[in-house]
Amino acid sequence: MNKMNRREFIKSLATVATLTPLLGNEALANILKENNDTERKNNMKVLMINGSPRPNGNTSIALSEMEKVFKEEGIETETIQIGMKDIRGCIACYKCGETGKCVIDDIVNEVAPKFEQADGLVVGTPVYYASANGTMLSFLARLFMSTKFDKTMKVGAGISVARRGGLTSTYDELNKFFAISGMPIATGQYWNGVHGTNIGEAKEDGEGLQQMRTLARNMSFLIKAIKDAKERFGLPKKEKRISTNFVR
Ligand SMILES: Cc1cc2nc3c(=O)[nH]c(=O)nc-3n(C[C@H](O)[C@H](O)[C@H](O)COP(=O)(O)O)c2cc1C
Repeated sequence: MNKMNRREFIKSLATVATLTPLLGNEALANILKENNDTERKNNMKVLMINGSPRPNGNTSIALSEMEKVFKEEGIETETIQIGMKDIRGCIACYKCGETGKCVIDDIVNEVAPKFEQADGLVVGTPVYYASANGTMLSFLARLFMSTKFDKTMKVGAGISVARRGGLTSTYDELNKFFAISGMPIATGQYWNGVHGTNIGEAKEDGEGLQQMRTLARNMSFLIKAIKDAKERFGLPKKEKRISTNFVR
């Protein structure tokens, strides 16, 4: 149950009291269960990935600012710290094409089903040499390559955190994973980035943190709107994929 105010609660108690003698306990229990199932189906979830090896560093501060907004919006979140995991890059074996999972059985395969369940994905990375860090790049390449479930209309958002430079090149880099997957990209009031060097400094970047809040609000809106639209119209029709290595 998301939010129920006092009046709604009293109303629901009154309904139960009225219906029990009419329907009997079992029928009422079934109705309540169906209602719960529907509510569970209505639950929306955002998966948040932190690529920093500093779990409480500046990227974490940026992600937490978004998390607060998701909570206000009634959207569940789960944050996964990958920054200290030993994640090697893709080995181009293409076995995932047959199995739908990566042959390197690590955190990538653990996150995959959570990604499949999620309505949105937030990827937060510290900037290393004007790029997402190596751990994040290995993680994303393998996650997006190995998972074969349909990602269409899952909302994506990439955020980068740096001392000074490379925020927008990293932002572009992250967005490409979403764009190749039919995932709408949530945007905010600027190119999502937060400044900070030493742990905790991101808290001083008022504009950066406001960007995170705006982004999370816009992303929540998109997730809700897409959920409604999917119920009304279904997902867009898909053509059989044309895949050529070069034009001939
Ligand atoms: C290997 C390495 C490379 C970095 N490269 C950049 C860079 O290109 N531009 C920049 O502004 N900051 C750079 N930084 C600084 C980090 O992006 C910055 O400290 C950030 O706050 C780290 O986020 P975190 O606390 O979440 O780990 C680099 C840091 C490291 C360790």
